[in-house]
Amino acid sequence: MTETRPVEPTPGTAGTAVHDWPVDHLDALEFDPLLHRLLREEPVARNRLRFGEGDAWLLTRYEDVKAVTADPRFSRALTVDRPVTSMTPHCLAPAGGIGRTDPPDHTRLRRLVAQAFNRKRVAELRVGAQAIADRLVGAMVRHGPPAELTESLTGPLPERLIGTLLGLPPADLPRLQEWRAVILSSSRSPDEGNTVKAEIAGYFRELADHRLRHPGDDLFSELVAAHAEGALSRPELISLSVMVVLNALDQVRNQTSTMVYTLLTHPEQLARLRAEPALLPATVEELLRFIPQRNGVGLPRIATEDVAIGDTLIRAGEAVYVSYLAANRDPSVFTDPDRPELTRDEAPHLAFGHGAHYCVGAALTRMQAEVVLGTLLRELPGLRLAVPPGRVSWHRGTVNRGPETLPVTW
Ligand code: HEM
Repeated sequence: MTETRPVEPTPGTAGTAVHDWPVDHLDALEFDPLLHRLLREEPVARNRLRFGEGDAWLLTRYEDVKAVTADPRFSRALTVDRPVTSMTPHCLAPAGGIGRTDPPDHTRLRRLVAQAFNRKRVAELRVGAQAIADRLVGAMVRHGPPAELTESLTGPLPERLIGTLLGLPPADLPRLQEWRAVILSSSRSPDEGNTVKAEIAGYFRELADHRLRHPGDDLFSELVAAHAEGALSRPELISLSVMVVLNALDQVRNQTSTMVYTLLTHPEQLARLRAEPALLPATVEELLRFIPQRNGVGLPRIATEDVAIGDTLIRAGEAVYVSYLAANRDPSVFTDPDRPELTRDEAPHLAFGHGAHYCVGAALTRMQAEVVLGTLLRELPGLRLAVPPGRVSWHRGTVNRGPETLPVTW
């Protein structure tokens, strides 16, 4: 177990080799080979990504990742205006965005959204989510096989759900999907990314003006009211809404599609789940642990003091990335980590992060994953891929991984 504690600065880190991490395209469930190697050979490493300046620390071990993300001596606010080496040409999270703040700002912003996505609210949303899934799968059955799952179920379900939750006009959803595709790409130019970020911000600003005059019974109206009362600034209101909508549209679609793909390509696990449907919540957890949800790494943190991670000294002012993906494959925590095992009963996974920035949408994602898998198992017992696994095409040049399309039959 690694300890993080303040230490006297020592000249220990100079000369540490810097790894170039181009974050090459990976297909299907392939795990990033650099992460796999660093986790075993160099769990506290220095890396340089394609964009930004200089290099940064990269931590891959479960205990180190947990320690740093729970340690207030690592700041997100200090990343604002620092061109830390990064995998995207433009910073995905805007300054003032929830991911780039520290307490007390962070605590205030989280409080405003956390309630909307807490377990109780999500349990209430489940009835509506199930009704949407039933309608979508009902339509698949009526049309007959084959079907394209991202179009028929895993795309529209989160879209409709977040649309209802935020009170977004259904006609606007295709436009939001187009913006999402550009912003969450790692292969567009900084200009393109910034133009689209300005457009989506403009969209929410206009909607905010409208909701101020005509409030609805939805989360966005609640946030607009909180802004009117001075609980959050206008840029904070906009970036929070953008962050929530982008995550909700992108992550749930990719994650639930990849979960279906994983089960369909691991028939022994699928058979187990079919034989024992009560394993569904455990299945979702194990798939969250096992699936490499993203390319590269998320947002860095900046050390505010010198901190030792094991034998390595991280100096005040240095940038640190953690890989939740690698932590989820740590062989000192998970037996045979590179295999999905639905009845695994080991440590909790870190797919949703850890500490103060733990994912706000975790309960919403888990619920939708259970609804998608549960409905498919029940309604389409013969479900299988309609093409050989190697013919499924996967997103390229994106932050989040997932199939572009998922042809299935039954
Ligand atoms: C499979 C689905 C998802 C995964 C794997 C995921 C994962 C994560 C991770 C790893 C973090 C960052 C932890 C960190 O900064 O250290 C995060 C933060 C966040 N996620 Fe998710 N997420 C998912 C779905 C969602 C959904 C559906 C929403 C919105 C409804 C959402 C909203 C957020 C927000 C707002 C944050 C920032 C929290 C903060 O900085 O305090 N996520 N998520």
